Order: sequence, then C-alpha cells, then structure tokens
Amino acid sequence: MVTVEQQRVARKRTYLMCSPAHFAVEYAINPWMDPATPVDPELAVKQWDGLRETLIGLGHEVHLLDPEPGLPDMVFAANGAVTVDGTAYGARFRHEQRSAEAAAHRSWYEARGWRFVAPVRTNEGEGDFAYLPEAHGGLLLAGYGFRTELPAHAEAQEALGRPVVSLHLVDPRFYHLDVALAALDDANVVYFPGAFSVASQRVLAQLFPDAVLAADEDALAFGLNLVSDGRHVVLASEATRLAGTLRAAGYQPVPVELAELRKGGGSVKCCVAELRP
Ligand code: ARG
Repeated sequence: MVTVEQQRVARKRTYLMCSPAHFAVEYAINPWMDPATPVDPELAVKQWDGLRETLIGLGHEVHLLDPEPGLPDMVFAANGAVTVDGTAYGARFRHEQRSAEAAAHRSWYEARGWRFVAPVRTNEGEGDFAYLPEAHGGLLLAGYGFRTELPAHAEAQEALGRPVVSLHLVDPRFYHLDVALAALDDANVVYFPGAFSVASQRVLAQLFPDAVLAADEDALAFGLNLVSDGRHVVLASEATRLAGTLRAAGYQPVPVELAELRKGGGSVKCCVAELRP
C-alpha cells in the first residue's frame, strides 16, 4: 500500500546565501538579540558552511551574496527580497541598522537580469513572505505586526501577481512570519498557531486544512525557521520535537547546528532566500 507519507517528493531548489563573515550582535532589534552575549565569529562561519554544504548535498544550487563590513545581520539573506517567476520584490528594512542591506540585494538581482521591483513600503522579504506555488493556484502568505507593514502586502501583490493573504503576528518573540510558519512543500505549511491573531489562525485553518501544527516549544527552538525541498526539511538541531512531528507526517528532518546565528534571532530559513527564476 502506498501511504501519503511515501509520496513526499523533493524538488530541486535554487537559494541565495550570504556568509556571516561580518556577523555580530552589536544592537538589539528583536527579543533574541543581546549585545552583551559574546559571539564566536569563526564558529558562526563554520556552522553557516555546514548549512550551505547540507543544502548542496541535498542537490540544491546555492548562490552567494558578498557580505559587507558594517552590516552584521547580512547573513540573514532571506530578508533581502521575495521572488516569484523571475520577479524580485525588494526589501525596505524596518530598522536603519539594516537598511543598507537592501541595495546589496538589489544590485545582485539587477546584475543577473531579474525584473526588480523596488518597494515603497517597509517589508523584510522572505522574513515576512512565504510562497506556495501549488496552493490555490499560487499564493503568498504575508506577515505583519512587527516588521513588514500591511500596505507592503498590496504592493507585493501588484509586483508579483499572486494573491497575498495577510496574517497578523501578535507575539514579539515571533517577529517575522518565517519564525512562525514555513512552507513544507508547494502546497502545505507548518505553523505555530499561537504566533497569530485568532482571526489569522482561522484564515490559516481554512486555507490549509492539512497543515502540520507546531507547539510553542517548537517555535521557541526556532524549529519553524526551516527550509524544505518538499521532502527534506532542514531545521535547527534543537527542534527535536518538531523533527519527530515532521517525520510522522512523512517528511525527512535534516538537523543542522546554527547556535551562533541564533544569537542574532535567526536560524536556517533566515539564512536562505529561495530564488524562483
Ligand atoms: N537580527 C535580524 C533582525 O532582527 C534577524 C533576522 C532574521 N531573519 C529572518 N528571516 N527571520 O532583523
């Protein structure tokens, strides 16, 4: 008998990452950052290399963005844009400490022939946008409440030509959509309901009746900040409970060690932007 579990299929992905060569925690713009906690820069690079090699080992292509001194959060490459069908909708960061990252991403896309739409509204790219190509004909889920502002959702819809569903984030620990929800494959998601308003939980339940539901402990371990190719789910090694839940749902968890970058308030997904040419 073929079970649903045996049908989880990987699709080859193309990603963009940026080395943590200049990573540091010099300011605190989310509840996880504490400038008093020392960071081991060499260990950060080593762990990031491990993530990059894991993705390549799974058969994916990883492009690199050059890190720039003075931009210690640039390693969180997911925040620079969101792409669909060859169009990149650029980021405009909430905090001035990160604002210069937007231009670096923009140059990367423009130099490679992408159609680039510069934003007017504040938004942090895939930090707050998740794309599900096979859900309802291609759907963008978008978070607001802490970083991305609501009018950016309409701007993204016009830039990318896909319906955008706005979801209200209500817990400051989960300040980006990608620490509360992740695409597991082209049509399904995993999320922690408690990160969303009651109304947004209702919206998610209606759109994704088969979603995998995570617990607060999974979210607190940064487990939801994952990257999935449809079968292999790369996630923080601390998220052992979520790994078990995903395995039971037929996915294959691939744990990685990223503890240094977690001091910046990010994990796997924050470091990886998906490129959809
Ligand atoms: N220190 C960064 C910030 O607060 C972390 C960004 C994490 N990235 C993400 N996609 N959630 O902006």
